[in-house]
Amino acid sequence: MEEGRIIEVNNLRVSFDEREVLKGVSFSVNQGEITVILGGSGSGKSTILKHLLGLFPVKSDIVSVFGSDLAEVDEDDLRFYKKLGVFYQNGALLNSLSVGENVALPLEQHTNLPAEIIEDMVRTKLNLVNLEDAFYLYPSQLSGGMLKRAALARAIIMDPPLLFCDEPGAGLDPVSLAGLDDLILKLRQQLGMTVLMVTHEVSSILRIADKILFVDNGIIAFDGSLEEARKSEMKALKDFFTVGTGGKR
Ligand SMILES: Nc1ncnc2c1ncn2[C@@H]1O[C@H](COP(=O)(O)OP(=O)(O)OP(=O)(O)O)[C@@H](O)[C@H]1O
Ligand SMILES: [Mg+2]
Repeated sequence: MEEGRIIEVNNLRVSFDEREVLKGVSFSVNQGEITVILGGSGSGKSTILKHLLGLFPVKSDIVSVFGSDLAEVDEDDLRFYKKLGVFYQNGALLNSLSVGENVALPLEQHTNLPAEIIEDMVRTKLNLVNLEDAFYLYPSQLSGGMLKRAALARAIIMDPPLLFCDEPGAGLDPVSLAGLDDLILKLRQQLGMTVLMVTHEVSSILRIADKILFVDNGIIAFDGSLEEARKSEMKALKDFFTVGTGGKR
């Protein structure tokens, strides 16, 4: 694997019930970059993320993450999976637990750290997402934007060097969305996280993306920098940016 590359995908093909959804997807993700996967509904974006997370079996030499061939990684290899943070659109918190308890869950499950240390770590992460006052609150007492930030705190509690996000901003108002973008930028800056994100939010993409992957017809139809994506003459990509920005590019 080339230096500085965290993910390499080489000709990933995926079929569901004999319908080929991914027809040979290849791309790489560089360390410290925010890469955004774009594409229409049903184009296979979440399917790509799920294959990178080891939720579906992959053949050897197709997907490599941190230099490990995913086909060779044991499902119980916690040291490997701890490096991956995951933040889903419906990354719901458990309603019966307080925010502090929710964020602490991965630490409770995967470490033997004493309670005071866990509390310290949880408070640090809640600070980072500007939720320092929500430690004892329950999910039902939070707004949509606060819930997302709490879920993000939980996704990063183990300090994963790689964060996967699937539509993290879905359903947020523009101000909360911008706040979430700032947070993701802060994580990259302060913790050096690499981020691979699926999002439809053009305003977010313009703020945070370094690199764009556009999925169309089962392949990566465009792979380039944000600047290149904005200038691209590819119709499907052009439409995406034009519609999403109200006609301005
Ligand atoms: N487990 C599954 N079993 C059968 N079909 C599936 C499965 N997962 C995904 N698909 C199909 O694969 C295609 C791609 O789905 P996927 O969820 O990856 O799309 P997406 O690009 O994330 O769409 P959206 O933007 O709507 O979230 C869809 O046609 C979907 O029906
Ligand atoms: Mg999806």
